[in-house]
Amino acid sequence: MQLCFAPMDGITNCATRQLTAEVFAKYKSTEDKLILRTEFMNVDGFLRNPDGVIHHLYTTASQKPIAQIYGWNEKTLIEAAVKIEREYGESFSGIELNTGCPSVTVMKCWGGSELMKNKMRTMNIIQNLSQNLTFLPFSIKARIGLNEEDKADQFDFLVQASQYCCKISVHGRTLKQGYSGDVDWEFIGNLKCVVSDRCEVIWNGWILAYDQAIDYGERYKLDGIMIWQAAIWNPRIFTPHQPTNAEKMDVILRHLELYVSSDLLSCSERGKLYPYILLDEIEEQIKIIRKNPDFSSHALVEFRKFLFAYVKGISDSREWKTRMLTASTYGEVRDEIVRFFERIV
Ligand SMILES: Cc1cc2nc3c(=O)[nH]c(=O)nc-3n(C[C@H](O)[C@H](O)[C@H](O)COP(=O)(O)O)c2cc1C
Repeated sequence: MQLCFAPMDGITNCATRQLTAEVFAKYKSTEDKLILRTEFMNVDGFLRNPDGVIHHLYTTASQKPIAQIYGWNEKTLIEAAVKIEREYGESFSGIELNTGCPSVTVMKCWGGSELMKNKMRTMNIIQNLSQNLTFLPFSIKARIGLNEEDKADQFDFLVQASQYCCKISVHGRTLKQGYSGDVDWEFIGNLKCVVSDRCEVIWNGWILAYDQAIDYGERYKLDGIMIWQAAIWNPRIFTPHQPTNAEKMDVILRHLELYVSSDLLSCSERGKLYPYILLDEIEEQIKIIRKNPDFSSHALVEFRKFLFAYVKGISDSREWKTRMLTASTYGEVRDEIVRFFERIV
């Protein structure tokens, strides 16, 4: 089964994907394949001021994620996609257009779910984007419609779009539902039955466990399953492995080091030049940080969103979380993590 780590702005950055890929390599079932995607990147920002947004595309060579973009203007969408393919194409396994994001910021720029409103115009964009790429496969990420009434039109739209896409990932909720409410499995199952054979159909929405992903994927004969919320606190969700608390701690510490080190590299002059970072460079940076426990950076503060998700469900974590808010150096954060897990191992 193709298992996809759903793209998430501010979450699925280079370090988090690297960690997920490492955990997958260690514990995967042999029938499964992990597919990664970058956070989405605004194409107009990329063309105007690449330095400001290129961090969305950072990756290590081995990850080969799909580069996800959003925008509204056909000309700049094509220009950006062609530029990514020409300049950085070797780093990615495809280019994907987001057509389903409900964020107000994204929709204000006419991107994401706005593209569901004028379907004929969007179909032209999809066709032209796919035809302008020379070697990277083109895909879209979509929703099942604007609302209940739009579902039938959206279904026909996706069937037609499948002629131009190698993959369509569908979030099984309407724009009106946002990120909550029932997901429509039948929609995706039916879509898989009628789309072009050369287009894979990937399900997304409210998958909470590995077994559930495999079960639904097989039941609806899908090509893959995409997971977001349940993956943020559990990078093992793409594997059948049940970790010990000691393994959980090791993964959190590795994530911390990857996160802080790749942030340092991407903020450097060198980081401005390339959308890829060598894993060797990250490992070197990790060695330096380990020798400097007093090291402090904004990435340590950002990392709290992962830390608090990791300890979700573990009892007595409230006091620890409060202490974590005052831990400002790498050494303090690392020691608090170790202390927390030593207590429960
Ligand atoms: C904070 C946040 C950021 C997201 N960023 C992206 C993004 O960059 N690209 C995208 O296609 N979807 C994005 N999504 C949507 C998720 O990829 C996914 O479709 C959604 O969370 C449903 O999956 P789930 O039910 O497994 O959580 C984002 C969602 C959230 C809540």
